[in-house]
Amino acid sequence: MGRVTVIGLQWGDEGKGKIVDRLSESADVVIRFQGGHNAGHTLVIDGQTYKLSLLPSGTVRPGKIGVIGAGAALDPVAFLQEVERVKAQNITVTPENLKIAQNICLILSVHGELDRLREEAAGAAKIGTTGRGIGPAYEDKVGRRAVRLADLRDPENLRGRLERLLTHHNALRVGLGAAPVTVEALEAELAQTASQILPYAADVTGFLHQAQQEGKSLLYEGAQGVLLDVDHGTYPYVTSSNTGAAQAMTGGGYGIGGYGYGLGILKAYCTRVGSGPFPTELTDKTGEMLGERGREFGTVTGRKRRCGWFDAVLARRSVMIAGVHGVALTKPDVLDVFESLKICVAYELDGNKIDYLPASVAEQARVKPIYEEFPGWGVTTEGMKNINDMPENAVKYFRKIEELIECPIAMISTSPRREDMIFLRETKN
Ligand code: GDP
Ligand code: IMO
Ligand code: MG
Repeated sequence: MGRVTVIGLQWGDEGKGKIVDRLSESADVVIRFQGGHNAGHTLVIDGQTYKLSLLPSGTVRPGKIGVIGAGAALDPVAFLQEVERVKAQNITVTPENLKIAQNICLILSVHGELDRLREEAAGAAKIGTTGRGIGPAYEDKVGRRAVRLADLRDPENLRGRLERLLTHHNALRVGLGAAPVTVEALEAELAQTASQILPYAADVTGFLHQAQQEGKSLLYEGAQGVLLDVDHGTYPYVTSSNTGAAQAMTGGGYGIGGYGYGLGILKAYCTRVGSGPFPTELTDKTGEMLGERGREFGTVTGRKRRCGWFDAVLARRSVMIAGVHGVALTKPDVLDVFESLKICVAYELDGNKIDYLPASVAEQARVKPIYEEFPGWGVTTEGMKNINDMPENAVKYFRKIEELIECPIAMISTSPRREDMIFLRETKN
């Protein structure tokens, strides 16, 4: 397979998990490199549904090795719970088939609490985070006061790290009306998981280098999507990490050979969970229908996802930002019943036509989508495996997307199930 990096090109939930699971058939190592258990990747295999948050999607296949790189954020409690959850579905996760970067930063209870306290305090201005402590944990990493996995090996040093961390957190907690936390409480919290989590700690850079030297193929699994990227997304309504393909190198901790073929995942329409601009959002019956047919409820929080038409303006930009060579289009089957479909091809801002989303929040709120309308196809495409079976109008819709986003469609997913895929191009560059 060579090396492939899978990236979400919208606001997350594009179907990355299904695509990574499918591609992992011919990969040896599957690597998560950013984000944490805010991600929710759903796989449907032989009638069983697997919901993965932090575990790389390749974990469900026997014989594959999963890696969680230092660019991700690790909540030890949530991680161990996830391992237990998948164990109940007969998936074995051990230090032999899962390696966690020893320099990864930890998400502790104070991070989740701070995330939720801030969101509550923000009222209507809230970001709509997953409440998993992602933002506060990344802030502490950049602020150089985070606790890293390797610190758990060294209780004496750990105490100092926790004191430093709590000086910061307790000031914030008191300001937000919450009780301060003691070092002893955090030590006790970490002591509960340290012996179970430490065996997974690994020298990921060395591991990936050796894997490359042995000719193994690496598959990188992005979380979230480019529109949630902390630099290039719809800031401040974003997550706290970079989500593009280049981040696979930085967050994975292994740069030799580059990220290979960048595969961007695009849903055939748009969804978003949480607050923030969404120019093509549909708050009418059509939006409801997209949500119902696409079962658009968040995997992590169960929240209803906002739905709207495909936005080619944003997708085209995401392709450029993320650095992808081809696209996997998912969920076109959800569109099967619509008589006509719209694609946003440009925006109107104060009487002018523009081909990008402005960076200012005020301008973002004023853009109006300019649509092109397409006839629907009126037959079921669910489960199709051959492009020749696709109705002509569906193929026209796909071609129009390719043309607008200036990127070829390499594959099309036609149902939640692992086997239902159409392959159009090789994912090689
Ligand atoms: P991820 O976060 O990008 O991995 O996406 P999620 O798993 O959160 O959300 C995608 C949802 O769509 C999941 O429930 C998948 O099972 C489902 N899905 C993936 N591909 C397809 C598809 O081609 N058609 C349909 N109908 N559902 C799909
Ligand atoms: P996957 O990998 C969809 C959204 C949240 C919120 C914003 C910030 O399944 O595609 P955070 O908790 O990260 O600070 O929340 O980002 N968000 C996601 N939306 N899919 C995800 O992951 C997401 N991860 C975070 O809803 O708007
Ligand atoms: Mg998801």
